[in-house]
Amino acid sequence: MDFRKIANEFKTPTYVYDQNKIEKNYQKLYHAFSSHYKNFKIHYAVKANPNPAIIKILLDQGAGVDCSSPGELEAALRAGTKKENILYTGNYESQEDLSQILNADIKFNLDDLTSFERLLEIRKTDFVSFRINPGMGKGGHEAVVTGGTDAKFGIPYEKAFEAYKIAKEAGVQRFGLHMMTGSNNLEPYFFREAVEKLMEIGGDIFNRLDIKPEYVDIGGGFGIPYTEEDVYLDVELLGRLVCEKFTKKLDEYSLGRPQLLIEPGRYLVGNAGILITSVTGVKESYRTFVGVDAGMNTLARPALYQAIHRVSTPYNSGPTRKMNLCGQVCENADIFAKNLDLPKNLKEDDLVLLHDVGAYGFCMSSVYNGRPRPAEILINSDQSKLIRRRETIEDLFQFYP
Ligand SMILES: Cc1ncc(COP(=O)(O)O)c(C=O)c1O
Repeated sequence: MDFRKIANEFKTPTYVYDQNKIEKNYQKLYHAFSSHYKNFKIHYAVKANPNPAIIKILLDQGAGVDCSSPGELEAALRAGTKKENILYTGNYESQEDLSQILNADIKFNLDDLTSFERLLEIRKTDFVSFRINPGMGKGGHEAVVTGGTDAKFGIPYEKAFEAYKIAKEAGVQRFGLHMMTGSNNLEPYFFREAVEKLMEIGGDIFNRLDIKPEYVDIGGGFGIPYTEEDVYLDVELLGRLVCEKFTKKLDEYSLGRPQLLIEPGRYLVGNAGILITSVTGVKESYRTFVGVDAGMNTLARPALYQAIHRVSTPYNSGPTRKMNLCGQVCENADIFAKNLDLPKNLKEDDLVLLHDVGAYGFCMSSVYNGRPRPAEILINSDQSKLIRRRETIEDLFQFYP
């Protein structure tokens, strides 16, 4: 990629996404599962990157979507997703959220029995799927562990039978089963263990109530390496382990061959994004700081999760020295990396790139400190296209009366 050309044309900071990488990620993950279980579908977790142009790339590959809010649902619809390809997995859904789900006529994974009771106040339904907390969870940071006893998500598995029983008694005839145990997990054997647990919980429930699931959704959470030290998640192994266990449990509980769904976000788009920033100042303080025009307002993960993103300086080389890379926000949490080896000749206006920002990057950005959000660009082969214009200071004031 000619980052200088992109920076000249679109200014900085700018998020740049590589369409080819997204397509390759999808194909790799799809084949890893579908070669072991035919009735399989990927629902892209829109929350990772809700730009409609990104959603569209994945729809064209054959994906459905998973949305977690009415706003994400709107993004999916604007990208052209057909309603039969939309899943909705929220948590603590309000009446308004539930009304929107029902009006959109899409499938949903409800977070609790109380959500189902609220939904019945609006209208009867012949379909329900519940998100089950299988009592175990794992993620790349404690904030993204979404299963186990400390997680706010899903129905504790001990209470799951009661939920499905009540739903059946309320006239529901079509069922799904869901879990999501954590994000950025790099261990394939964990996923197999979680699937085994979910299928034992679900199998017992479905057998006792004499019902069968239309689908089993085992969530997303498939991690990517952010540093040179991180391992790659072996998705071939993951697909085989999960599908073998899944099929075995289906046979054990005589559940036929329901659809197996996964809802990855990070794995599909994470490594396809780069944030281009420009150096705004180099300061010799007690340490050497390199300030750039992006900060925790542009990319929140380092401040939020102490996440590490690889940094590169494509147009500077030569001898290096230890520097701290920071943004312009008035907080000392606004540091992307400490003690990085960066070229000594780095100076104002030089470009610094932050890698693997395609997931949970732009969508977690804010206008904190009165900084408008950056532009988003999509690269397809050597064509670059603006897919979200840079916000302006004027934009910041559009909501005030
Ligand atoms: C319900 C649900 N599904 C899917 C995802 C996507 O997770 P990931 O991007 O780790 O694949 C999340 C992320 O938190 C989620 O909460």
